[in-house]
Amino acid sequence: MKDSLFTKAAFSEQTERPPVWMMRQAGRFMKEYWDIKNKYSFLEMCKTPEIAADVTMLPVDLLDIDAAILFSDILVTGEAMGGQLSFTQGVGPKFANPVRTQADVDALDTDVVHKLQYVADAIKVIQQRLNGKIPLIGFAGAPFTVMSYLVEGGSSRDFKLTKLMLHNEPELAHQLLAKIAKVTAGYLNLQIEAGVNAVQIFDSWAQALAWDDYKEFSHRYIAEIISNLNRTDIPVISFCKGSSVFAPLMAEAKPDVISIDWNVDLADMKKRLPQGIAVQGNLDPHILYADKKVIKERIHRLFDSMRGQSGYIFNLGHGIMPDIPFDNVKYAVEVIKEYRY
Ligand code: CP3
Repeated sequence: MKDSLFTKAAFSEQTERPPVWMMRQAGRFMKEYWDIKNKYSFLEMCKTPEIAADVTMLPVDLLDIDAAILFSDILVTGEAMGGQLSFTQGVGPKFANPVRTQADVDALDTDVVHKLQYVADAIKVIQQRLNGKIPLIGFAGAPFTVMSYLVEGGSSRDFKLTKLMLHNEPELAHQLLAKIAKVTAGYLNLQIEAGVNAVQIFDSWAQALAWDDYKEFSHRYIAEIISNLNRTDIPVISFCKGSSVFAPLMAEAKPDVISIDWNVDLADMKKRLPQGIAVQGNLDPHILYADKKVIKERIHRLFDSMRGQSGYIFNLGHGIMPDIPFDNVKYAVEVIKEYRY
């Protein structure tokens, strides 16, 4: 995979155009996703390798993107550790047994990577289907973001209980984060061993944190995970919402690529990062609701601004929303694939 457009850009090599993939590219904005989703629960889809492979392949076959991303969820690590996880339509993820006390943290198991074997099995099926066409990206949630779901018991607007634990009981928070980090490193190594060609760490809710708290409770665990990966030629992408602020610190964890949100000028951010760190991003996903003329203009504006910089992968600043018209996503991919620097 070292000659693929995606891998070249991830390792900061020059490419003739930016490679393209999109966070949440295998999801609800596609009719074909619903055809599968209407038959199975979300967790059944994740845990059945053939189905996870079918869903992973949807954007490969229908959008012709430059990298596939494993169909799974960041919360499977929390489930493997003992969280009682469910996904309900319109409600989102729930842990029925939130982790809030010392006893709750002690009860979480870390010798659990074998429970995630279904993910390794899915990766093997997907790689057979991809047959070397494009790279496959594996992923995991960052400890802080996974912790927030475990502590809150689900999605949260303000992360009140999570932050309260960081502030009032920092030692307990560190015990919890260290446990998640250990499982996450083992889990990503399982994915690497099963054959993924890149990994992305999702710290979706890091933007809720103050700089000092990000440094103490998120950044250091991501750095620990990256340093524990068994890899030579597999790029690591570090994603967080809040990267327009945190990226210079994220760079210290030594990822190959930093995925940038849409609040910052991407070319300017790239110049502020150390040599050899590529960037991914950073179109506002709402642009994909707009008229095609606007979609093309904004993509060209972004790419023109990145001209002359090696190490750039197109993506959205965050995931595709479920009601974005499929046709617009397809059009965006076509515009990107026609572009030349
Ligand atoms: O990107 C991809 O296409 C690969 C698959 C993927 C999913 N979740 C599938 C999914 C990935 C990479 C994720 C990561 C994930 N999961 C994140 C980090 C990425 C981000 O967007 O910040 C987070 C925070 C989660 C937790 C999670 N999973 C939430 C909050 C939800 C509900 C979201 C909602 O909008 O309802 C999920 C469910 C989920 N994960 C779905 C999919 C396709 C929807 C399931 C359904 O069909 O109802």
